[in-house]
Amino acid sequence: MKNPKPTLLAFISAIVVAIVASLLTFIFSSEAKISILVFLTSIISGYFTFLYILQNFIYRKIKLVYKSIHQLKAGSDEISLKQKLSDDPLEMVNKEVLEWENEKLGEIEQLKKLEIYRKEFVANVTHELKTPLFSIQGYIHTLLDGALHDEEVNKMFLEKAARNVDRLTNLIADLEAITQLESGSYTLEKEVFDIHSLVKDVIESLEMKADKRRISLAFKKGCDKPFYVFGDKDKVRQVLINLIDNSIKYGKENGNTIISFYDMDENILTEITDDGNGIEEHHLNRLFERFYRADKSRSREIGGTGLGLSIVKHIIEAHDKTINVRSRVGVGTTFGFTLEKK
Ligand SMILES: Nc1ncnc2c1ncn2[C@@H]1O[C@H](COP(=O)(O)OP(=O)(O)OP(=O)(O)O)[C@@H](O)[C@H]1O
Ligand SMILES: [Mg+2]
Repeated sequence: MKNPKPTLLAFISAIVVAIVASLLTFIFSSEAKISILVFLTSIISGYFTFLYILQNFIYRKIKLVYKSIHQLKAGSDEISLKQKLSDDPLEMVNKEVLEWENEKLGEIEQLKKLEIYRKEFVANVTHELKTPLFSIQGYIHTLLDGALHDEEVNKMFLEKAARNVDRLTNLIADLEAITQLESGSYTLEKEVFDIHSLVKDVIESLEMKADKRRISLAFKKGCDKPFYVFGDKDKVRQVLINLIDNSIKYGKENGNTIISFYDMDENILTEITDDGNGIEEHHLNRLFERFYRADKSRSREIGGTGLGLSIVKHIIEAHDKTINVRSRVGVGTTFGFTLEKK
């Protein structure tokens, strides 16, 4: 018997019934033997009868509770419910409540993490928005306060304001991208494409920017040929733009950015290598975090938001592939990511 309480109750009730029955027999027949016999028979039959009635009564209640729990939880179908009701109800309720408790505790934990993430995110975004906005405000007010008549100052201030507007536009675009990627509300549109030709497109679009710093963008020897991969071409384009753009921004003037492809049987490894100042080792494992910058002042000065690499990581991980970085101060930096080979 799994439940001791109904058993005890039934036993007490049976004793009460037996005492009453034997007292009545004793009063009417005045025979001790018959009374003892009646007493024992009453205990045994009373015990089982009460046990049966009590258990049925309690179990029916538990089944009702169990059914209500199930009805509260959406999605449980009738068949599995009927099957479960024929098992031991106490064990079922206990198991169900424990499962439910674990589920809810997990959800609470998740919500706490989300709340911390939300607070950090809002604080970072506010900070990032404030800096260019205050600059634009400053330039406009200075112009309005009289500098407007000086053509030289006029042009310089408007150029600076325009640069900050660009920075805001980039920040909004990056925020949109990261919000979409982190919410998971997108699907990868995978196709087979030649990553070498995609890199060529990206190089063309960034050529002017590279020319300004006299940085050459080129393929490694033997890599100027097609390499077919399977992935979301537009998202991979975003990855390449971020990585090649970083090599131009953080590479050294008159430097070189080399793009290499490696056939790794199941994957194609793409590497972007620059010969810039490099990144100190203690920054390397934090580089892919949102808003993290290794060289804060340089990064802000050239308008980086610190979101690029976290976007890149999201995209590559959404492909179930990996991204890594290696760097040596004074020598340069290499970012590498894999994609499925086709
Ligand atoms: N090739 C590189 N060489 C040296 N430092 C780099 C390189 N790439 C990235 N970094 C460092 O990593 C930081 C994060 O890069 P990330 O691309 O995420 O941001 P960002 O370039 O500053 O801004 P965004 O890409 O959002 O415009 C940069 O601020 C920079 O300090
Ligand atoms: Mg970047």
